[in-house]
Amino acid sequence: MEFKDLGCEELVVRRCAQTGLHAAIAIHSTELGPAAGGCRRWRYVDTGHGITDAQRLAEGMTYKNALADIPFGGGKSVIFADQNKVPTPAQLDRFAQWINELNGRYVTAEDVGMGLDQMRYMAERTAFVSGAGLHGFGGDPSPKTAYGVFLGLKTAVQHHLGREHLYGITVAVQGLGAVGMSLCHWLARAGASLFVTDLDAGRVAHVVKKYDARGVPADEITKLKVDVFAPCALGGVMDGALAESCDFAVVAGAANNQLLDDSVGDVLAERGIFYAPDFVINAGGVVSVAHEHLMANGAFGDDHNAETWVGDRIEGIRSRLLDIARRAGNEGLGTHRVAKQIALEKITGTSATLAA
Ligand code: NAI
Repeated sequence: MEFKDLGCEELVVRRCAQTGLHAAIAIHSTELGPAAGGCRRWRYVDTGHGITDAQRLAEGMTYKNALADIPFGGGKSVIFADQNKVPTPAQLDRFAQWINELNGRYVTAEDVGMGLDQMRYMAERTAFVSGAGLHGFGGDPSPKTAYGVFLGLKTAVQHHLGREHLYGITVAVQGLGAVGMSLCHWLARAGASLFVTDLDAGRVAHVVKKYDARGVPADEITKLKVDVFAPCALGGVMDGALAESCDFAVVAGAANNQLLDDSVGDVLAERGIFYAPDFVINAGGVVSVAHEHLMANGAFGDDHNAETWVGDRIEGIRSRLLDIARRAGNEGLGTHRVAKQIALEKITGTSATLAA
């Protein structure tokens, strides 16, 4: 039976009348270690959409963590709430309690709608939260995610367009949040020509001014003819219609679950559009968060170098993506399918290694 058919190992959906907290925690796999994946606060259309999202995101984390060679399985949690409102301390207390009740099978961190402040608060209530920067190295995972995406994007351009440098390469960045903003920094530094959009006009104005980018209305960004489309907002942006009509050479961005489903990736591959799988190139943040959790639990010796451990794994995104690209070419498959296959081989075949 294919691993994907197994679904989530555990799915917890809970509501607390006292605090108003309503959340789902999806543990997709603990095969390689505790299920690690962030917590998203979002106002979903309905609970069903949120639970589905939690499971899909948790599955993506299983592949991401396996490919990044960290000893963690995949999980994700969602809190059903308005992402623009701050959660109350009582809600965070209760959420930390629910995580504790999973006895370490799930380790959380920040995601869209949750920030460092909330992680720090929860870290005083549960040992199964990471990315709070309490151990000297780590903290906000977004800059590391952005740098890894930058490396992946550059590798994709080198492989697919045969261009050694990003100078003059046109990139459309959708979403200028923590990751998108930092990605623009690296891209501008490398001489890429930027088209940017966000629902927040202030963010667009900031990037336009700082990086000499061109601002584009949110509903226009996917209609551009550019070398690279970098989705850095939410998932599902690449659907069948867009895959059939888009004028991009490469899709490489930070957003989790960019492809609405695997058939979309097949269309991209058939059209000769190179897709850098999100769960391959956006692993920089989880590597840092995982490292922090391992460090807090005494996994390393005295001679451990945190920056090297994390940096090597983020740099590894380049060779990992090239392996996937070559294998996809040889096997005539989309990169998304090959990447999942390699992740499954790691999960079912060997254990992830923990080198000091
Ligand atoms: P964020 O919440 O800081 O930023 C998201 C930005 O996208 C916001 O500025 C928002 O206004 C904008 N946005 C939302 N919908 C949009 C639309 N339709 N068109 C244009 N802009 C839109 O989130 P963050 O942390 O930057 O993450 C971005 C994506 O990367 C998310 O999908 C997240 O799951 C993923 N990711 C983030 C990681 C991290 O370390 N922060 C790690 C791995 C993945």
